[in-house]
Amino acid sequence: MCGIVGYLGPRETVQVLMEGLRRLEYRGYDSAGIAVFHGGKIEVRRAQGKLTILEEAIAGESLEGRLGIGHTRWATHGRPSDDNAHPHKAGSIAVVHNGIIENYLSLKKVLMEKGHVFNSETDTEVIAHLIDHFHREGLPFDEAVRRALGEIKGSYALGVLCEKEPDKLIAARSESPLVVGLGEGELFIASDTPAVLTYTRNFIFLEDGEMAVLSGGKVEVLDLEGKSIPREPKRVMWNPLMAEKGGYKHFMLKEIMEQPRAVTDTIRGRISEDRSEIVFEGLDTDEKMVKEINKIALVACGTSYHAALVGRYLIESLSRIPVEVDIGSEFRYRNPLVDEKTLLVAISQSGETADTLAALREGRKRGARTLAICNVVESSLSRESDYTIFTYAGPEIGVASTKAFSTQLVILYLISLFLGKRSGHIDHPHMEEFIGELVKLPHLLEEVVREHKEIERIARKYVHAKNFLYLGRGINYPIALEGALKLKEISYIHAEGYPAGEMKHGPIALIDREMPVVALATRDDTYEKVMNNIEEVHAREGRIIALASQDDKEIASKVEDVISIPPTISALTPMLLTIPLQLLAYYIADFKGNDVDQPRNLAKSVTVE
Ligand code: F6R
Repeated sequence: MCGIVGYLGPRETVQVLMEGLRRLEYRGYDSAGIAVFHGGKIEVRRAQGKLTILEEAIAGESLEGRLGIGHTRWATHGRPSDDNAHPHKAGSIAVVHNGIIENYLSLKKVLMEKGHVFNSETDTEVIAHLIDHFHREGLPFDEAVRRALGEIKGSYALGVLCEKEPDKLIAARSESPLVVGLGEGELFIASDTPAVLTYTRNFIFLEDGEMAVLSGGKVEVLDLEGKSIPREPKRVMWNPLMAEKGGYKHFMLKEIMEQPRAVTDTIRGRISEDRSEIVFEGLDTDEKMVKEINKIALVACGTSYHAALVGRYLIESLSRIPVEVDIGSEFRYRNPLVDEKTLLVAISQSGETADTLAALREGRKRGARTLAICNVVESSLSRESDYTIFTYAGPEIGVASTKAFSTQLVILYLISLFLGKRSGHIDHPHMEEFIGELVKLPHLLEEVVREHKEIERIARKYVHAKNFLYLGRGINYPIALEGALKLKEISYIHAEGYPAGEMKHGPIALIDREMPVVALATRDDTYEKVMNNIEEVHAREGRIIALASQDDKEIASKVEDVISIPPTISALTPMLLTIPLQLLAYYIADFKGNDVDQPRNLAKSVTVE
């Protein structure tokens, strides 16, 4: 949600911090700030708004130093303002924080009674005052941090500096991700590895209840009792170029165009040579798992939830195991029927979405086995699940999820085939045929991506629309939902996704020349029915953009615009329909002049409930 970066080393600290913040800006961006150890003092600079405003504020200043912390904020407690921006300083202590401190009001009251004066409306400022309070009472910096952590309740990733310790940076985490990066003679902290990937690929991933003391070129990881914990660094496979725009105008466009590659990487190594088996390390050695489960519960939020909805069609039809799908934030409030015979599958790009994590924990509490489908190695979701299957989308920087979604779908195809084979519902020829089509996907996606100019042309026509309706049926209905979500989050145009058959039960009343309808009308079992819906819209003078099979020559006479989709089996059409909808949303938003990568009010990873 918010972003943290910290540095201890010989480089220009301000530059390292600002570059790290730029890479993290996608996590939250209503304000930003840095604190740098300069001339024996901690200098704090903060500004509401985009990072460029902070950049302008510090331009021309010489803030040299070898130690500093930085933050991009997405407001939770306290509106976006200079005063509420991080870092927060109290006495000799400066703090950056991601997460929410639940008991901040009671702590604030006690601290105010002791004479502490607060300058912001944030929960974070309490942490700085609390550490300062213990430090003033005579505890060394490390001890003071530990004591303060013992008092606060809630979630946090923290970076802390102390004016009396010019060579020490303390980091701590509880329910909010934080990594320590190890370079040659330099150390980093970050809420997300891409922030510092240019400098190092070796990381210590802090766990909940751990703090790290970075000093004298070394890192010591401690628990909250102060006991040292030996931790080996891990090397991440992502490289810095993966987190660059690579010549594209926006990350989102780059990430859309990357999907053929991301899909190839996600399939690679997971299909046996004779195409008879799906290979999932860890899962395939657990012979009992499929035999013992009698239900699958899929939980996710946002775009990942739409992937879960497609997953239900796939898993049920290929394995005949009943599947329930829940939005992460709803799951635990409906007393779900989940027990040790349930496999709970949590789907999340970031692996840090608070609602999805809470659903996973609820499932575990009720005895379910858990499987995470996740894009970020060492994320909380992957660490808390019995099994994890990673999507190899690479870092997704654009706030609107694109390549993570298609790679989640790929994993759901593979899981469905895996379960279908194990449960005896798929025979060898069927498996071979399905896999044969699956491995063709990257080429088909290339073909779809090549249509981008045509989609751009269509998008230009609809820039001024105020509302959009997306219609799909069967396995493509969740894609209608996803198309509508993409459009609304980046173009701010109201859009609704509907199962096409439901149109006549209400939304048809909205149809007129002002309401473009995007119809997913590829040739499959529901084609005739969707065509009927198209006729109904046509008869009411509605403007239709149809996504149709390449060989469908008749549809053009019924609709205003057609986007052609190459042929594949109907189970795989969601993959091919997704990219044109992403591109349509992208171009409309870009024509409107919107900030596509950082849409208003949204954050990449929603780590608060
Ligand atoms: C939409 C989008 C969000 C995320 C949702 C879940 O484009 O990005 O709806 O899909 O916040 O995020 P993850 O997948 O990280 O759990």
